Amino acid sequence: MPSDRTPTPDSQHIFKDGIFADRVVVITGGGSGIGLCSAIEFAKLGAKVAICGRNPQKLEAARAEIATHSSLEKTFASPCDIRDAEQVDAFVDATIAALGHIDILFNNAGGQFPAPAQNISPNGFAAVVNNNLCGTFNMTAAVANKSMIPEMRGCIVNMIANIYRGFPGMAHTGAARAGVENLTMSLAVEWSRFNIQVNAIAPGIITSSGTQQYPKAILDMAVESCPAKRPGTVDEVTASILFLASPAAQYISGTTLRVDGAHALRGDTFPL
Ligand SMILES: NC(=O)c1ccc[n+]([C@@H]2O[C@H](COP(=O)([O-])OP(=O)(O)OC[C@H]3O[C@@H](n4cnc5c(N)ncnc54)[C@H](OP(=O)(O)O)[C@@H]3O)[C@@H](O)[C@H]2O)c1
Repeated sequence: MPSDRTPTPDSQHIFKDGIFADRVVVITGGGSGIGLCSAIEFAKLGAKVAICGRNPQKLEAARAEIATHSSLEKTFASPCDIRDAEQVDAFVDATIAALGHIDILFNNAGGQFPAPAQNISPNGFAAVVNNNLCGTFNMTAAVANKSMIPEMRGCIVNMIANIYRGFPGMAHTGAARAGVENLTMSLAVEWSRFNIQVNAIAPGIITSSGTQQYPKAILDMAVESCPAKRPGTVDEVTASILFLASPAAQYISGTTLRVDGAHALRGDTFPL
């Protein structure tokens, strides 16, 4: 079990055995953190899982780990940078060739760095928006056009963040994630005619491989300001993703589910 996993909540005690049997799930950034945790839990519940990321070694290790909960035949991994539409097209084609079609897309991949807005260069700002917003659109458009729209069904969950009082300290990702939330609403309306649900998930501070990159003092102060007085876990975020992808949520579309211990309502995300 990776160090950021916790024993609870255990998806197999919450969701019916085999609830995602024969469902094909694509998870971007599935090689680590929240993406890997959700890939493992989807696999435990019967899904076929495809993951992508930029680091081939990390992906192969993750694929082997996911396969211990299903099988190598039901697991696909291939390097793909979501910023590059050609790579995304090739990854989606390869996933469909390997696993048949795509039922569920979790747009999880992303990255950013804490910085005061005045220190973010135009290139740095564009890089974060390109990754977190444009990359999400690249993957969404390819999966929808190549599988979900022709099949007239699909479920998309977009990763955003706690952006509800702006995102001071990470203005670039705040802008990008707000874009993803708005995209979520537009697509939910436009694609309801294709029976495609589109929702977003907004975690607060989660203990994961991603937040390990941030200075500890910043994280400690952010956690202290959270009403729950603790960070969330990758398992807690995963449980919400599984819910949004499950039949229990089939009439939910165009919404954002916050998984943040009430942090969006009170408390600063990052100290300035
Ligand atoms: N942890 C939190 O507190 C928190 C809160 C809110 C939102 N989030 C968001 O949740 C997502 C997962 O975060 P995490 O904490 O699990 O961190 P993580 O381990 O760093 O996960 C990010 C994943 O995205 C992949 N990735 C990044 N850029 C990519 C690109 N251009 N193309 C393909 N893959 C790419 C990374 O793999 P490669 O580097 O190998 O490409 C990595 O596997 C991220 O979008 C993060 O910003 C996290």
